[in-house]
Amino acid sequence: MKNIVILISGSGSNMAAIVNTAQRDHWAEQYGARVAAVVSNKADAGGLVFARAHGLAAEVLDHKTFASREAFDAALMALIDRYDTPGHPVLVVLAGFMRILTPGFVEHYAGRMTNIHPSLLPAFGGLHTHQRALDAGCRFAGATVHLVTADLDHGPILDQAAVPVLPGDRADTLAARVLTQEHIIYPRAIADLLRKK
Ligand code: GAR
Repeated sequence: MKNIVILISGSGSNMAAIVNTAQRDHWAEQYGARVAAVVSNKADAGGLVFARAHGLAAEVLDHKTFASREAFDAALMALIDRYDTPGHPVLVVLAGFMRILTPGFVEHYAGRMTNIHPSLLPAFGGLHTHQRALDAGCRFAGATVHLVTADLDHGPILDQAAVPVLPGDRADTLAARVLTQEHIIYPRAIADLLRKK
């Protein structure tokens, strides 16, 4: 069985969408894959409640208890790699995981770590994507699923969804419209990856 480990920092709605889709579409039977664990760098991340309620291993690794970025990433890597199975390295899914990862960490999971970013990349990498799209007068906004590379928010694109920017939109209303699309494209992109492997 191939294990998927999902990393979160907050509400974990993308994680929940992936877990629900995996169940509904029988990823275990279809692809020999399952969501094995959810890891948060914040103890109060709302998504941990959902993960525990669904019988997933829900682990907290608080970055503030580590002396350096390298030390945190090394511990995170050790935690994740416990879910490797023979012949099946873990697939790492970043879902609202708000940490910049070290080059060594990214290299270790090359080709098997995905991220979702709330903009139509390559536009608006980084933070405050919705406000920046509004400020730029964009008529469309959206989200991108991509493979993670050393180039922050700019790895190969796996899937995208666009939504219109509507008159009167604020960052929060636009974010909500984009998020509903994230919940569609992220599970779909992961299923596509599992199908190809
Ligand atoms: C999502 O909108 C995701 O695209 C974004 O954080 C939110 C997490 O929501 N990710 C980033 O901004 C990454 N730079 P969720 O915890 O409910 O999935």
